[in-house]
Amino acid sequence: MTLDAESLLAQAERIAATAYAPYSRFRVGAVVVLPDGSIFAGCNVENAAYGASVCAEVNAITTAVAKGATEIDTIAIVCLDGAPCTPCGNCRQVMREFGVKSVLLRDSSGGAVELTLDDLLPMSFGPEALES
Ligand code: THU
Repeated sequence: MTLDAESLLAQAERIAATAYAPYSRFRVGAVVVLPDGSIFAGCNVENAAYGASVCAEVNAITTAVAKGATEIDTIAIVCLDGAPCTPCGNCRQVMREFGVKSVLLRDSSGGAVELTLDDLLPMSFGPEALES
């Protein structure tokens, strides 16, 4: 695994520490890298009305989009509490919208794992399906 992957996972871990997760106590951080190399981060933000909670990945992606991103190359995701986690289905679909290529996660020994979005969301539905 490249130093880059390690550094992105370390940044995701740092942002996870800022998560607002008083209900689940499950803190998640995500960092996205755009084709121009710029980086945006997000953590999960829960709500007393549970359905209004936002995942870390969606927070990082929407923050990047608010700065003009239309494409995302890489996302690194780290969970601080409990076993290493993989992104939820909704987050995988949001990643698909912006063409995420590489997904970096931690394995159970704390090592880095790199997956493609196709590994996580095979036969996916995306924007090109609506082009005619
Ligand atoms: N969570 C994320 O931030 N990303 C995921 O991919 C899965 C789950 C958050 C949502 C909620 O705040 C907490 O983790 C427990 O589900």
